[in-house]
Amino acid sequence: MIKAINHEDPSYVIGKIQDLCSPESMVLEIGCGDGRNLKRLKEFGFCYLEGIDKDGEKIIKAKENLGENAVLRQENILNFSTDRKFDIIFHSLVGIFLSPEEKKILIEKVRAYLNPGGYYIFEEIARNISKLPSNRPPYFYSKKELEGLNKYFTRVSLEEVKRIVDGKEITGGLVYVGRLIAIP
Ligand SMILES: C[S@@+](CC[C@H](N)C(=O)[O-])C[C@H]1O[C@@H](n2cnc3c(N)ncnc32)[C@H](O)[C@@H]1O
Repeated sequence: MIKAINHEDPSYVIGKIQDLCSPESMVLEIGCGDGRNLKRLKEFGFCYLEGIDKDGEKIIKAKENLGENAVLRQENILNFSTDRKFDIIFHSLVGIFLSPEEKKILIEKVRAYLNPGGYYIFEEIARNISKLPSNRPPYFYSKKELEGLNKYFTRVSLEEVKRIVDGKEITGGLVYVGRLIAIP
């Protein structure tokens, strides 16, 4: 049976992170928006939280929401670089804004900044969206893109979900969890 998750509520992906990872894990969220996901992780005791978003206004809101509890920076993932490595890198509702070519760059960034064995987790829209961003087409994850992840990540799980608003299914989704394979 396909699990139903509330489109507006990030609990599902946050629950995955909580179940799999310890609060000492270094966490990076790509496209953190106003910081609602990082705020939950802080409440669950996660100590090192970093968020990037390309939208400066979102970062200002995230800073209002999180204060000193996270490192927050205006950055486009496509140009992102850092000296740090993370135990968890995740994104939620960001992949639809990235073209297939841009998603390849996203994966390169995740591989570059994840510790070996670290978790790559995402929750993304997969089909039938009715609430579209008006300025860009939705870039859904293709089967080929998901299979491509197997080159770099050991798949822990891939779930299909239904995204629900006011009791109605508005679109489908994917929740992916993989672990970075250490390539010598
Ligand atoms: C639908 S919002 C989701 C925000 C957050 N993940 C959440 O679940 O609340 C998508 C976010 O991705 C950000 N975003 C889109 N493309 C990005 C990119 N190339 N680099 C960084 N952030 C990006 C947008 O600015 C926006 O804040």
